[in-house]
Amino acid sequence: MKYKRVLLKLSGEALMGEKQFGIDNDRLKQYAYEIKAIVDAGVETAIVIGGGNIFRGVQAEKGGIERTQGDYMGMLATMINAMALQAALEHIEVDTRLQSAIEMKQIAEPFIRRKAIRHLEKGRVVIFGAGTGNPFFTTDSAASLRAIEIDADVILKGTRVDGIYTADPEKDPSATRYSKITFDEVFQKGLKVMDMTAFTLCNENKLPIIVFDMNKPGNLLRVMEGEEVGTIVEF
Ligand code: GTP
Repeated sequence: MKYKRVLLKLSGEALMGEKQFGIDNDRLKQYAYEIKAIVDAGVETAIVIGGGNIFRGVQAEKGGIERTQGDYMGMLATMINAMALQAALEHIEVDTRLQSAIEMKQIAEPFIRRKAIRHLEKGRVVIFGAGTGNPFFTTDSAASLRAIEIDADVILKGTRVDGIYTADPEKDPSATRYSKITFDEVFQKGLKVMDMTAFTLCNENKLPIIVFDMNKPGNLLRVMEGEEVGTIVEF
């Protein structure tokens, strides 16, 4: 495998599948199998998952829910997804540990960096729930932060597009995909890979990012095998 330790960031919306809200069981199962494949291949795997399929702090503001309150609600939404993913992984006999950035001892270990690393060394998938535990930070930022903390080799952003394009491929049919791009180019061209906080964290800590289509079966394993899947942002 090209990478030994990775952090996989999954969006909450991706878990909806074709649904408008919540969790699609088939999609959840599919992701669990994709993850199992790389774990079985010996990749130490940590996961951060979003919560947008259940609740989004930013949107809630429009409905009169104060931003910080909304963000905490969003963090709880990530825990629901994290628990669902944990259950799906355990169902197919993948060892997991769930750590939460907000203390909720009955359902998850608290986030303890050293313990997370130990779990990874033992081949367990570590799922980090509740974002960073702070409002005003996205789950992309949580993913970057945790990836740096556990000394991951790369952060994998699994999305529904297969990489970074010259323009939004859903709006501009002439857009082309980069297979490789540097952090500087992303800054210069104003491309959107992650929010700026998350992206800057990766840049400053020399953590490469791979953006790829998580919904295509086998893609995650192909990325681990070093195939040119999606776009890699490097130095
Ligand atoms: P090792 O120490 O490497 O053997 O790891 P371990 O996770 O198996 O040991 P530990 O005794 O810490 O945990 C046993 C089980 O309890 C695991 O499933 C943990 O996820 C769970 N666990 C540990 N601490 C907590 C906690 O604070 N809250 C909850 N809900 N579960 C916990």
